[in-house]
Amino acid sequence: MSEVYDVPARVREGSPNPMTTMDGYRAAYAASMDDPGGFWLRETKQRLQWMREPTQGLEGNFHEIADGPVRWFGDGELNVTESCLDRHLLDRGDKVAILWEGDEPGDVRRITYRDLHREVCQAAHALRELGVKKGERVIIYMGMVPEAAVAMLACARLGAIHSVVFGGFSADALRDRVRDCRAQIVITQDEGLRGGRPIPLKETTDHALVGEDSVEKVLVLKRTGADVGWVEGRDVWWHDAVASAPDSLDAVPCAAEDPLFILYTSGSTGRPKGVLHTCGGYLTWTSYTHQNVFDVREDDVYACVADVGWITGHSYIVYGPLCNGATTVMFESTPMYPDPGRYWDMVERLGITVFYTAPTAIRALAAHGDEPVRRHDLSSLRVLGTVGEPINPDAWIWYHEVVGNGRCTIVDTWWQTETGGHMITPIAPATPTKPGSATLPVPGVLPLLLDEKDRIIRGPGQGRLCIDMPWPGMARTVWGDHERYVSVYFSLFPGRYFTGDGCRRDKDGYYWITGRVDDVLNVSGHRMGTAEFEASLVSVEAVAEAGVVGFPHPIKGQGVYAYIVLQPGYEPGDDIETLMNQQIRKEIGAHARVDLFQFVPGLPKTRSGKVMRRILRKVAEGQPEALGDTSTLADPSVVQAIIDGAKSL
Ligand code: PRX
Repeated sequence: MSEVYDVPARVREGSPNPMTTMDGYRAAYAASMDDPGGFWLRETKQRLQWMREPTQGLEGNFHEIADGPVRWFGDGELNVTESCLDRHLLDRGDKVAILWEGDEPGDVRRITYRDLHREVCQAAHALRELGVKKGERVIIYMGMVPEAAVAMLACARLGAIHSVVFGGFSADALRDRVRDCRAQIVITQDEGLRGGRPIPLKETTDHALVGEDSVEKVLVLKRTGADVGWVEGRDVWWHDAVASAPDSLDAVPCAAEDPLFILYTSGSTGRPKGVLHTCGGYLTWTSYTHQNVFDVREDDVYACVADVGWITGHSYIVYGPLCNGATTVMFESTPMYPDPGRYWDMVERLGITVFYTAPTAIRALAAHGDEPVRRHDLSSLRVLGTVGEPINPDAWIWYHEVVGNGRCTIVDTWWQTETGGHMITPIAPATPTKPGSATLPVPGVLPLLLDEKDRIIRGPGQGRLCIDMPWPGMARTVWGDHERYVSVYFSLFPGRYFTGDGCRRDKDGYYWITGRVDDVLNVSGHRMGTAEFEASLVSVEAVAEAGVVGFPHPIKGQGVYAYIVLQPGYEPGDDIETLMNQQIRKEIGAHARVDLFQFVPGLPKTRSGKVMRRILRKVAEGQPEALGDTSTLADPSVVQAIIDGAKSL
């Protein structure tokens, strides 16, 4: 049985938030289940500045999702930037909104709510001048600079729909996203900077946009001053367009259900999907969870060290914290630059109180021992968060004992791009924790486990995790393809949202996420589809077939294992492996690569030609004895070859 960690008294003391005990949590949870519409209407009216207050809670349900998305606060009208900026001007105008730490330690910018409001208005003016109107799509392809947040908010100010593309993605990946949403504008920078190395964002943008006729303008922030290519008539410098623009601009009224942003994420097919979030429900959810889960307080220095290119950056660097009037840290560099003490140096210098990172980073840092942590004074810390993948108990305990010095509580937050915000997680001051468990559902979240025969599991058990009731923060659709949304999330278990994750519930009702049960990989917290890797691999001339699966990796959580069948006339070798990884880098991005290649005579297929992925998975996981029934294979002899040639790290 795993140990239970009570919340340290110093974490609970002085909390201004409503759920400081388990009784408080249970009461809120019960209220959210009794009357979800009423519960969230009350929350949203307290949290958001509405232009027209909503009177409607929830409309629609999962059984009728094929007819159209669910709606929350349907008759309300707002502009999310008024909640994130304008209303703070009165009593938080001089409070730091964004505390930016650049790539070099100590390169700090403090941007107050007043500054941020001004810059967002100026950037919105500039975008309007460039032709952006409500409902248009704007791609943001930037590094971790404050202007990335400014750009997002400037779009929101105009009611335009932003789609942030992580700066590690390649030109091909960027082009696919520009094309899918028919973006009108791309906002980028000359170069990004990470770990002392420049990232050629403008150059990649130029490659991506060759022949793309939807993009009229490219707005370019100067970050490093590098020489970059310039397309006259299309490219515009940020400092020319933004700095001299008027410093106020009326926020464009939006319906609660108007789109706020599209974020592309990987699924089971080769084509990423544009998950769509809307204004009212998303902001309510991120505000509620940010405040309650982290127990955020007025004087906190809150740091989420994710990238703004992923959902974590959207919800917990930008929208949730700014809606709550918090000071949110934005970090441009990496945990290893210039050395593995970087996070802790930053915690000490900036006085960080809440720190939110990924298990991969924790494992990588733990591998460097305790000294880089111990040499810093981390007494400001109160709440430590993790997100993105299951955290193994060893890493959890290291985080708790060494980083937290046993004085902090850990919130292991389970959620997804599609859920908009936290779903299963401790509430910092209230929930006793267990290493490796995401603990209990947030109020409003009704989890359900289904066994292999699709029966509901009651009490303890392990199965596939569904959510049985709409919540305000959920993605409403896939951009331009509602059918795909319905088929991906609501077809396996009609009437329920299927998460794609496996999960165990223990006797205390605590949830333990076991990882994806579909063809999605989670490498260092980066979500990637096996099908995306396979499509990229077979585009290499030498490759006839490819089968990609994940395997347990000590640092990355999951590594990528590729089974390769070569075309006749080609021989296995390092040069082909290099070529294949180059192709993946070109088509997906620098964050994607295969860790282990195995050349095989054929893939294990059924007589109808379907690859039996279970076999590939078991061999990659080092469990060839657990292959199960292989009698339905067209050619059982390939299995032996696969087992004999298995690779490991
Ligand atoms: O498998 C789960 C894992 O990450 C997936 C969602 O990935 P993405 O949409 O990129 O969002 C990541 C940031 C929210 C989930 O399906 N995951 C996320 N958080 C956890 C987790 N697995 C276990 N524990 C978590 N805390």
